[in-house]
Amino acid sequence: MNDHHICVLAAGQSKRMKSKTSKMLHLLCGAPVISHVVSIAAALEPRTLGIVVGYQRDQIMAVLDGKAVDFIVQEAQRGTAHAVSVYLDEYPLLKGSLLVMNGDTPLLRPDLLRQLLTLHSLESATITLLTADVENPTGYGRIVRDQKGLIHRIVEEVDATEQERGIREINAGIYVFNIQKLRQFLPQVKDSNKQKEYYLPDVISLALQQKGRVVPLKADAAEVLGINTRVELAAAARVLRHRINHRWMLEGVTMHDPDRTYIDTEVQVGADTVLYPNVFLEGNSRIGADVTIYQNCRITDSNIENGCVVYENSSVEASRMEDGAKIGPFARLRPGTVLAKDVRIGNFVELKKTTMGAGSKANHLSYLGDAKIGSGVNIGAGTITCNYDGVDKHPTTIEDDVFIGSDTQLIAPVTVGKGAYVAAGSSITDDVPPGALGIARGRQVNKPGWVARKGKPRSHEGMKKIHRRDRGGRRER
Ligand code: UD1
Ligand code: MG
Repeated sequence: MNDHHICVLAAGQSKRMKSKTSKMLHLLCGAPVISHVVSIAAALEPRTLGIVVGYQRDQIMAVLDGKAVDFIVQEAQRGTAHAVSVYLDEYPLLKGSLLVMNGDTPLLRPDLLRQLLTLHSLESATITLLTADVENPTGYGRIVRDQKGLIHRIVEEVDATEQERGIREINAGIYVFNIQKLRQFLPQVKDSNKQKEYYLPDVISLALQQKGRVVPLKADAAEVLGINTRVELAAAARVLRHRINHRWMLEGVTMHDPDRTYIDTEVQVGADTVLYPNVFLEGNSRIGADVTIYQNCRITDSNIENGCVVYENSSVEASRMEDGAKIGPFARLRPGTVLAKDVRIGNFVELKKTTMGAGSKANHLSYLGDAKIGSGVNIGAGTITCNYDGVDKHPTTIEDDVFIGSDTQLIAPVTVGKGAYVAAGSSITDDVPPGALGIARGRQVNKPGWVARKGKPRSHEGMKKIHRRDRGGRRER
């Protein structure tokens, strides 16, 4: 049984994000920053997992709904040491080790944290903390070491001297504390700094002054990246994207350009699937094996089964494509669409809340909404289900093996029976019985000799004259 507890600090105001939303709620590969951190923490199987919340706490608690975490409220955000004090006050009997994690550090690997916890107990340390040598230390607390190279204190950038700002070793904001000792040190932390805040890193020098044992562990810079600005948010997304794509490539997914392939953390992708650049696989989408998704496609919360093809510039939202279905280029599946096996949806076709049976086709320029379409159906170019009467939506039913001619309007509610045909250019207002031909359009009239009687215009001007004459009221029979 693990005997450590974890406290995640997530109460801060995120001023540097210049956002109306707490940085904990900004999305990183489809999940809020705080969800990433809580998943990392949960992977360490702590005895208790507490999240200190304050700013926008209702929203933060909502995104963590259902997770096995406790929330501790820090009403006024007076600094990271203050946040940990508020947390410890909630748990007066807590003993053992406490891992404190900044909620804005989502790239940590659980293995590194396990290493930190093990080091802490092996060394019987008072405090064990992660540090990293980074290229650009701007914004971080700097690790000040003495002449012997031993850790001496941590200084925040705003309070640092010119010389201290030059230090490239930074505090990652991830610490393991001996809880009893931490309870002694926290009341000694002062807010005598530029920000007038109670800094948790000040506990390090207090521990050293009181003969405590402080053990640093150096981590890889990319792993301890803290998100304070949009620049860091983008940098973290790049690292996470790289990790996700790397993992899927090792699972047998081909990516033409992994730097421009965007897969959310929860998405699953099958082997031998091929992804072209600028493909976004979002939410809890499931992509099967042997699927090809061409460039500039966005798939959200959808199921795309084996062997499907999504041609370029298509979008699929909350829909399902069964084995071998193909859509696009320029197709749009809106929520509630289900395409059975081998359905073919072509360019400029939009479907909403519509099911299509196996092998059915709508190849060009159509809108199919609130429709139940059987198998073996052919929907001609320019077909529109007129599902909305200005107040309500109505269903259209098209049974198996129906042929809908091009440029047909199906004025819902309406049913076209099994095996029926609808003539091109029809406005279908009534049900078409099975096996019938429905035809609903103005009858064609041919006017023999019309051109000769008018006199064939030799110029554009001539043509205009004929039109003017016609408009003048002369009836042609
Ligand atoms: C902090 C460290 C800095 C370290 C860096 C690593 C302090 C004073 N500084 O700086 O040494 O290099 O992290 O990323 O700790 N929070 C609260 N309550 C508060 C204030 C903050 O819960 O009153 C939370 C924030 O929501 C955030 C975390 O604590 O998740 C860290 O706060 P932040 O303002 O990001 O600290 P940094 O300036 O990044
Ligand atoms: Mg920070």
